[in-house]
Amino acid sequence: KLKVSDVKDDQFDSLGNTLVLQGWVRTLRLQSSVTFLEINDGSCLSNMQCVLDSEVEGYDQVESGLITTGASVWVQGVMVKSQGTKQKVELKLNKLVLVGKSDPSFPIQKKRVTREFLRTKSHLRARTNTFGAVARVRNALAYATHKFFQENGFVWVSSPIITASDCEGAGEQFCVTTLIPNSHETADSPVDAIPKTNNKLIDWSKDFFGKPAFLTVSGQLNAETYATALSDVYTFGPTFRAENSNTSRHLAEFWMIEPELAFADLNDDMACATAYLQFVIRHILDNCKEDMEFFNTWIDKGIIDRLSDVAEKDVLQITYTEAVDLLSRANKKFEFPVKWGCDLQSEHERYITEEAFGGCPVIIRDYPKDIKAFYMRQNDDGRTVAAMDMLVPKIGELIGGSQREERLDHLEARLDDLKLNKDAYWWYLDLRRYGSVPHAGFGLGFERLVQFATGMDNIRDVIPFPRTPGSAEF
Ligand code: 4AD
Ligand code: MG
Repeated sequence: KLKVSDVKDDQFDSLGNTLVLQGWVRTLRLQSSVTFLEINDGSCLSNMQCVLDSEVEGYDQVESGLITTGASVWVQGVMVKSQGTKQKVELKLNKLVLVGKSDPSFPIQKKRVTREFLRTKSHLRARTNTFGAVARVRNALAYATHKFFQENGFVWVSSPIITASDCEGAGEQFCVTTLIPNSHETADSPVDAIPKTNNKLIDWSKDFFGKPAFLTVSGQLNAETYATALSDVYTFGPTFRAENSNTSRHLAEFWMIEPELAFADLNDDMACATAYLQFVIRHILDNCKEDMEFFNTWIDKGIIDRLSDVAEKDVLQITYTEAVDLLSRANKKFEFPVKWGCDLQSEHERYITEEAFGGCPVIIRDYPKDIKAFYMRQNDDGRTVAAMDMLVPKIGELIGGSQREERLDHLEARLDDLKLNKDAYWWYLDLRRYGSVPHAGFGLGFERLVQFATGMDNIRDVIPFPRTPGSAEF
């Protein structure tokens, strides 16, 4: 099956050949002697310009007004050099078939529509240039992710979505409950929250077959079990956070890439994160040229040059202590004052990458142990852990990672300190009981990567169906 991307630049010497294409009508322009029909099949940003006159089989559908924006069509024609300057080639039609007409209410007409409006039309927004380009670049980043890890000997591990453990210990988990088919409504059942199809009701007491269970916030702990058997592994799947954050960089459901490296320390971890980022950015610059040009022109001017730098230059590294020092000397009033021990807020992260370091990614390492998760390896100073965050301009934290505490006694002591239930972590502690090794890993929020790579402002616009407080319609 031929796609517009296969023929638009005449790579296959298709001039003079008769081709069939299928797609959706973007525009129809009727001129006195010829009609121009632009169709897009999603394979690339470019439309295929089709030229037709009244002799073409199926032209009556143009005359009767059935070929409108949004309609799906099947076209057959001869590939010719285009007279216009916008495209190299065009299709001189000999046959046009209307596959599905588009109701005049089609909301995405040629006139510009806002991204806010399109968020209310997530089932149709992929038919716009911007969302088509985002979907293709997102796909290329996913492909490059697997390519990078596979080529470097990592094994992809599927971590569970339903789990009883809270990896980050932040209590930001969604609870899993059970739907009981054909039961009867009880007075205190919060049934209004769910559609009443098939008479299914929530029974809050049952949870996950009689046990509590949650949607995972991170696959890290599971990845550690496989890293301590297969050496280097990675996960790539959906994760969930019940944080009620309405920002341009938080989702309730997002995809995370979590490599876990065995026989590795924090330096190996930072080197892996940097090499990974450089690889996937290089991949889209080389393989998504047309879409990247589009982002460069319409969404974020200069993004191609900035990403080219990222793909080539090493990422700067500073310690948390140095970062706090830099922020306290900054000639700037922050909403949240900075002092050693505080968590860095997004205003601080943005200052560091955007102002202090002129728009480059920066890694901050060795955070105070009290603001980080229980599993991070304690440094010898007794007050910091071997953690690292990679920050990027406009977004802030793109990557969070650490060397894991591999010493059983240290880990048990830390769980006690934090009043976490050691019994619940019996299996995690077993990894330290049986052949423990130094190991490290990180988590990268895939949507933040897509934002970084495309320049899109809002995280809701880089995932097909964003899940944020109040939005889970379809
Ligand atoms: O820093 P986080 O919470 O780290 C972890 O979950 C570790 N267990 C990862 C690991 O070491 N394996 O999350 C990792 C990354 C963040 O840097 C951010 O990019 C992204 O996940 N992230 C979110 N992305 C979108 N919406 C949210 N609500 C996010 N929360 C975290
Ligand atoms: Mg983090």
